[in-house]
Amino acid sequence: MRLQERVITVTGAASGIGRAIAVQAAKEGAKVVVSDVDETGGAQTVDLIEADGGTAAFLRTDISREDDAQALVDFAVETYGRLDGCANNAGIALASHPLHETPTDLWLKTQAVNATGTFFQLRAQLAYLAKNGGGAIVNTASLAGITPAVGVTAYAASKFAVIGLTKQAALEYVGKGVRVNAIAPGVIRTPIFDNSSPEEMAAFEALQPGGRLGEPEEMATVVCFLLSDEASYVNGAILNADMGATAF
Ligand SMILES: NC(=O)c1ccc[n+]([C@@H]2O[C@H](COP(=O)([O-])OP(=O)(O)OC[C@H]3O[C@@H](n4cnc5c(N)ncnc54)[C@H](O)[C@@H]3O)[C@@H](O)[C@H]2O)c1
Repeated sequence: MRLQERVITVTGAASGIGRAIAVQAAKEGAKVVVSDVDETGGAQTVDLIEADGGTAAFLRTDISREDDAQALVDFAVETYGRLDGCANNAGIALASHPLHETPTDLWLKTQAVNATGTFFQLRAQLAYLAKNGGGAIVNTASLAGITPAVGVTAYAASKFAVIGLTKQAALEYVGKGVRVNAIAPGVIRTPIFDNSSPEEMAAFEALQPGGRLGEPEEMATVVCFLLSDEASYVNGAILNADMGATAF
């Protein structure tokens, strides 16, 4: 139980990779603060954890709202007495466009959630962890933040920002006992692809090394490793969990 008694917040925990992280962290002994804009899905994640004998509580937060980041830290401390780790996982992937056709509102919304939202979370979390004995943070970046892909300018730029924030925070806070890492998932089977056609999904699948998509649970175990003391000398790393898609 490598996260025994740790208090861990997970954003975007109502669905997909975030739900899997929350469930896995609880299995590994953590008390989990499940956070999302989706209250129904968040409550379902708490139910899943509690049905398995774990401990979890839900707080509705929108990571693009500045005040919600501090509210999440405060809720964790008020509910479980402390905060030890954070999985900053919430993110959006809106429609694909060539760069010159990317609508301004799509660009701004994507940056507001994925880039600025991660910044707001980190700022509140680092202030707390630096003052309270340290901890571990894992951001969810993307394969799209490592290597460019056609048609996803806004999303890719936002995930390059997540990687930049991860490295910046890792260096600035290592002296305060805080490790900050990221995972860069390949293509993972989650509801984020609900708007993709079966043809697009088949094309994604065919492109993956090994010929299959990843499963959310395969990301969750990696995130829990990085949150745990097993990764005590890992800081500022971007762990590519993509079956080798970026092995070049
Ligand atoms: N699925 C993939 O192939 C893949 C690949 C690389 C990276 N990612 C990243 O993984 C993360 C999780 O994605 P997923 O595939 O599980 O998608 P998902 O859509 O299943 O889950 C995303 C969750 O984030 C929540 N969310 C969206 N905007 C939010 C906001 N402003 N505040 C709080 N919560 C918000 C949603 O309600 C949802 O529950 C995202 O950051 C995504 O960019 C996914």
